[in-house]
Amino acid sequence: MVIFGASGDLTKRKLVPALYALAAEVSLPDGFTVIGAARSALTDEEFRADMREGVEHYGRVHLRDDAWQKFAAGLHYVTYDMDAPDGFESLKQALEKADRERGTAGNRLIYFSTPPNAVTPLTDRLNAAGLTTQAPGTFVRVIIEKPFGRDLATARELNDRLHTAFIEEQIYRIDHYLGKETVQNLLVFRFANGIFEPLWNRQYIDHVQITVAEEIGVEGRGSYYEEAGALRDIVQNHIMQLVAIVGMEAPSNFKAEMVRDEKVKLLRAVRPIHPDDALSHSVRGQYSAGFINGGRVPGYRDEKGVAPDSLRETFVALKVDIDNWRWAGTPFYLRTGKRMPKRSTEIVIQFRRVPHSPFAGSVPLAAGAVPTDGIDPNLLILRIQPDEGITLRFGAKIPGQALRIESVNMDFMYGTAFREQSPDAYERLLLDCMLGDPTLFAREDEVEEAWRFCTAILDGWRAHPPDRTNCPNYEAGTWGPDEAHAFMARDGRAWHLP
Ligand code: BG6
Repeated sequence: MVIFGASGDLTKRKLVPALYALAAEVSLPDGFTVIGAARSALTDEEFRADMREGVEHYGRVHLRDDAWQKFAAGLHYVTYDMDAPDGFESLKQALEKADRERGTAGNRLIYFSTPPNAVTPLTDRLNAAGLTTQAPGTFVRVIIEKPFGRDLATARELNDRLHTAFIEEQIYRIDHYLGKETVQNLLVFRFANGIFEPLWNRQYIDHVQITVAEEIGVEGRGSYYEEAGALRDIVQNHIMQLVAIVGMEAPSNFKAEMVRDEKVKLLRAVRPIHPDDALSHSVRGQYSAGFINGGRVPGYRDEKGVAPDSLRETFVALKVDIDNWRWAGTPFYLRTGKRMPKRSTEIVIQFRRVPHSPFAGSVPLAAGAVPTDGIDPNLLILRIQPDEGITLRFGAKIPGQALRIESVNMDFMYGTAFREQSPDAYERLLLDCMLGDPTLFAREDEVEEAWRFCTAILDGWRAHPPDRTNCPNYEAGTWGPDEAHAFMARDGRAWHLP
């Protein structure tokens, strides 16, 4: 495995700890070899020491000296030079040496953990150096990190450029949400159980909410975030993948192309929001200083790398309509934000209310309750993280002489049900790629469909920048701007409090 961008954060925090966990749990062959490639010079020893620190700090599994020694024997570091004609010579030699000495047999996995603008020049150079072609009986696969382009046009251009060097089957576009156990369980929940699917449609579901709330701010990535913002950072990839999985039809089998065909069909059915309508279908927010867990945190504009008058969104809420028979008239509301009161990714399925309540009148209305019958709607809450689990909320009679109804929970919790630690998303995805299974990676058309939807919103936003007098518009440690609540209230709905 060749990692470009080996001196970066992702390699140390995620990739090498995931590889070490796979090695320690004996999922990798002994000869597995990692070649870290970057421009800055490091010796193998320095690279190994740095990676060891990464495993110790960020790894899921505890570092064992013997397992580390064995794994580290296959860790190497090379530099490359984009401008010199023989700038990839040391990489080539390292790969040949691995084939000779460690039995890697010409199989290569290339990971671009680089800034996005490095992907195409690197692809061109690898292609010119003959490192992208698969000799008979071997594989060369490439993993591309997000952001995959900045809009539809750049994503298409990137796909086209990648295809000059690789065929689609060689390209693995990683979205780490798809590697999360709870996201994979959405497919199991929907398609391995007979009782939910009959209800999973416009007739029984009032609406769907998907929330990706983060406590953290931009974590030293201010200059990246200034370019990206919440829509590109989270919605275009992670949230649109969740929309596809919640909304898709059942594939007839779990082969990669079957699953991905169904996801892309759903994404194609997402109604485009015309740029002129972007403002009425979305809410943008940016956080100011505030308090989280009792501690004061700075505002977005005070983060390193952020312009003092930045208008970049750190929160977004959207309403999505899906034009097909399953979902017509049942909107999906999406929201994500940095510096929310707590970290929580969840999907809430809100069912329709009973058509008529025989209890009307006998139920004293709680303050703020909807007066039709006073009974809360049923909710199915799929908690992706943390507190991974599923809750079904339904009404129950409060014991006593009077007929009073209260919502209660039926809970499934991963921790107590399985008592096993889930593998990290990167472990699962790296292993899948090595095994040649692209099911949990985004196909070219999935990425482009998600961009089609998001680009129109970005176009609309660009034409109507946020009002300077109302930016920032939410305090760190709150659930986003007031407009986000008004946005739901306009439809007679409210955000579920995670
Ligand atoms: C990344 C984003 O893709 O996902 C980050 O770039 C974000 O801004 C992260 O913090 C969230 O991932 P997770 O797994 O912590 O939900």
